[in-house]
Amino acid sequence: MKIVSNIFVFVLFVALGVIGFAYSGLYNVGASSAHGGFTNWLLSTISHESIERRATEVSVPNLDDENLVLAGINDFDSMCIDCHGAPGKKPAAVGQGLNPPAPDLSEEAAEMTAAELFWVTKNGIKMTGMPAWGATHDDDALWPVVAFMTRLPDLDADGYQALLARAEGQGHHQRDGQGDGDSAGHEHGGSDAGAAASHEHGETAPGARTHDETPDKAAHDHSSHSHDEPTPEKEVKPHDDGHDHDH
Ligand code: HEC
Repeated sequence: MKIVSNIFVFVLFVALGVIGFAYSGLYNVGASSAHGGFTNWLLSTISHESIERRATEVSVPNLDDENLVLAGINDFDSMCIDCHGAPGKKPAAVGQGLNPPAPDLSEEAAEMTAAELFWVTKNGIKMTGMPAWGATHDDDALWPVVAFMTRLPDLDADGYQALLARAEGQGHHQRDGQGDGDSAGHEHGGSDAGAAASHEHGETAPGARTHDETPDKAAHDHSSHSHDEPTPEKEVKPHDDGHDHDH
């Protein structure tokens, strides 16, 4: 009985200590101050294990398709490099101030499976700068980026540029003067464009899309939305088109 009450008192003190600490303002939330070794270990372990476990539920399509890779590098170049950089390209200002930092994906992609890369790209990572791209893109728009990332470890700065040049016009972020990406045409959840998108995607039978047609299809769909009037309230919510995205 004594042991039980001792444990109870101990737990109570720990809880009070944690609450007191939270209210004390002592913790430095500034992104400019480094995480301590323990916090770092704790957060990266939680993150690593969580990704690994959830990625087991992702079913990976055939990514061995050059068109998918070409579409992917364009999308990667507009969606990811501001934070992550790319071979021969430094992250932009926004990426340089992140804490935790956005890692070099050439290294990470060599260690992660395609399923893990996809899961993180789609779902993002809480309490870091890593966005959930699945909030604005359906799975078919994200697999090209994953296909490209599997090639990333083999690319140096010249290889990256050469592939990017070959990819002109591919992908849903094709560089054709429509702005650099997410400003136009990606608010699937936005009011008008969202309704149009749901309708349009809803007419495609689930499974009717093969990834062979992904780049063209994605490019087509997105460009058809991007000329809609700008949606004033950029409400971001998961794109609901009737497909089941929870693999
Ligand atoms: C606004 C900044 C930002 C953008 C844009 C961004 N990321 Fe990230 N990303 C991060 C940060 C920060 C982390 C590190 C999170 C952490 O430490 O847990 C991260 C982590 C990742 C990881 C996990 C790496 C690992 O080792 O676990 C992957 C994969 C990834 N990002 C892919 C992408 C892709 C693909 C894109 C583009 C579609 C993208 N990111 C765009 C900030 C960003």
